[in-house]
Order: sequence, then C-alpha cells, then structure tokens
Amino acid sequence: MNKRVADSRISGENEKRILQRDANPHLFRSFTMRSVTARNRIMLSPMCQYSGENGMPTDWHFVHLGARAMGGAGIVFTEAVHTEPRGRITNNCLGLWNDEQRDALKRIASFIGENGAVPAIQLGHAGRKASVGRPWEGTGPVSIEDGGWPVIGASTMPYAKGFPIPEELSKSGIEKNIENLVASVIRARDAGFKIIELHAAHGYLIHQFLSPLSNARQDEYGGSFENRSKFLMESIDAVRSEWPSDLPLFVRLSITDWVEGGWDLNDSVKLCKILQKRGEVDLVDCSTGGNDPRQEIPIHPAYQTEFSQTIKRETGISTASVGLINSPDLAEAIIANGWSDLVALGRALMSDPHWPLRAANALKYKSDLWPSQYERSNIF
Ligand SMILES: Cc1cc2nc3c(=O)[nH]c(=O)nc-3n(C[C@H](O)[C@H](O)[C@H](O)COP(=O)(O)O)c2cc1C
Repeated sequence: MNKRVADSRISGENEKRILQRDANPHLFRSFTMRSVTARNRIMLSPMCQYSGENGMPTDWHFVHLGARAMGGAGIVFTEAVHTEPRGRITNNCLGLWNDEQRDALKRIASFIGENGAVPAIQLGHAGRKASVGRPWEGTGPVSIEDGGWPVIGASTMPYAKGFPIPEELSKSGIEKNIENLVASVIRARDAGFKIIELHAAHGYLIHQFLSPLSNARQDEYGGSFENRSKFLMESIDAVRSEWPSDLPLFVRLSITDWVEGGWDLNDSVKLCKILQKRGEVDLVDCSTGGNDPRQEIPIHPAYQTEFSQTIKRETGISTASVGLINSPDLAEAIIANGWSDLVALGRALMSDPHWPLRAANALKYKSDLWPSQYERSNIF
C-alpha cells in the first residue's frame, strides 16, 4: 500500500473515531437514578431569585425555570424552598408550608417536565442566616421593626457581627423542624417534582449543626462528629419516609468550611461513606463554604471539582460538581474524566438559558435537544 493511501486510511479511521466521539459527548449522555433519567448531565444549580410573594413563586419563577428546561438542561432545580416562614433567607424567598404554594409550584414542575427536563426541588431552612435583605437591597440582617423575624440555630452563636443571636433549637424544636420538612416533602411529591435536594450546605440550618464553628450544643446533637451529623441523618430518614423509593434524593454539602477548625474534607468523606452505606441518598452535590465569614475560597474555573472528585473516588457515591464550570469543554472534561456524574451550573445558566443548546453545538452533538419551535434559529 502506498504511503498516501495508508495515510488517508489512518486519517479516515481517525476521522470516524473523532466523529463517533463527537456524536456522543459525555456531557450529553443520559444519567439514570432510580426510576428517573436525565437527558444529559447538565443541571441548573439552585439559585434564589428573591422574587416570591408570601413564599409563593411568581411568574418570574415560571418563566425563569421554564426557560432553562426549554434551553436543554437535563435537570432544572428550583431555588432553596423553605419549610417554614422563619426558615426563609429573605422575605421574598420561597416556601412549601402550605397547599397554595404547592399548587403554584406544580404548574412550574409540569412545564419543566413537558419540556424534557427533570423537575427538581431544593428544600432547606436558613436557620441563623434567615431574615436578611435581598442582594439588591443590601444583604445584611433585617431587624424585626423593618419586617425581619427572630431566627433559630443549632446554637446561640450569630453568623457574624451584627447578625441576630439565634435561639438554640430545643429537642422539641428539632422534632417540629423535621415534621415541617416531612410536610414539605409530601407537597413536593404531590407537586410532581422528581428529585429532592436537601440543603445541608452554605451555612444554613443543617450545616450549622454539622460544623463545630456553629454548633456548641451540649446534648446528643453536639460535640462528636456523630452527634453533629445526627440532625442531618434524622432529616434524611424523614425525607425518605415520604419520598417515593423510586425517586432520587440529593444532598448538597459544603465539603469544607475553608476555616481552620471547621468542617472539612475529611469530615465530608467520613459522612459520605455513611450516606453511601445507608443507601437513602443517591447523589452528593459538592459545594463549599458559607458558614463563616472568615472563609477564604480560592476561586478559579471548576474550583470545587476537586471535592466532587475526591468524594466520588473515596466513597463511591455519585456526585455533582459546581462552581465556575462555564465552558462546554470544561464541563465535558469533568464528566468524561469521571470527576462527577453531573455538572451544576449556576451563573452560566442564569446568564444564558440556552447554554446547553450552545454547548451541544460546540461539542458537535447532533440531537433533538433544540425545541421544534426554535429549530430555525439553530444556524449560528
Ligand atoms: C443569585 C444566586 C442565588 C443562589 N441561591 C442558591 C440556593 O438557593 N441554594 C443553593 O444551594 N445555592 C445557591 N446559590 C449557589 C449556586 O447554586 C452555585 O453553587 C454557585 O453560584 C456556584 O456555581 P456557579 O459558579 O456556576 O454560579 C446561589 C448562587 C447565586 C449566584
């Protein structure tokens, strides 16, 4: 065989291999958890819109979340939805403590599902970080005179100077908190959501129990690692008591507090080994920080992916990676290398609802991801 023919054969094979690879980028492979299959690995990270009224979602949420489903995300998460009024971060955050809120969320969940994405809801309680202003009105604490409310926490340490002193949750308060969570889980199920994520990160109530920086309790919910994890474990059991066994449950953790003496990667590995063994949680969404203003976070593209990678490798549990995953190539590399099973995009998807459609084009993925109504715009 002459050299030119041989070369063309090689390049022909290479081309075929490249085309095959391009035909199915890892980012656009489906992902199945229990009975739920996401069409790709891209999830809209939970992001408060501070646009609710009395805990109810508004048209803003319908359009905002609906657009991300139309834009091709595999999983569309609501922002943190709170289990009681005093658990809201701001007066304009969402809640699921009544049926009216459930019905308004149901419309949104249906639309997300009809447009090919998995509707998912994050449930949480802000604890000592509740009762603050919206970002565009100043994020500081809002006093009771100005429409704020008394806050609760794992202990009586405030989040930072100038923040209110929380009331330490009593044992009956913990029980009530878990009852509220279960009631919200039932409503989330009835609203048609297919994934729940329990918010145990960013310095909110469950994280306040986990971290020695915010938990100084003397009872069985404080002190040792096991005691500090007890509230989370009981919350997970409570969610699972009403959340159907064929639907996935995620937990968002701050893998490290980024502060000496705080919750750290070793604690997270230990916790995730237990979660993996217990089998109630399907995926750990690996974020960091938020519990202590002294934190110093080294920010760079994919700055938290090393944590999703370590948690997955050390414990075998599925993970999501989040934090400045802005380019299709970076997202593809994370999934292709198995550093996480999903990529959660926050600001990138907030600034461009069609990020997944554009990423599909950039990675040369030919699919029916583009909504039929938008097909004629797929010329760029
Ligand atoms: C406006 C805004 C609101 C957010 N609200 C939430 C929230 O409700 N729950 C949560 O777990 N994280 C929240 N986050 C964090 C994001 O989910 C995400 O983890 C973070 O922005 C880093 O990802 P990114 O670099 O892709 O934006 C919020 C972030 C932003 C920018």
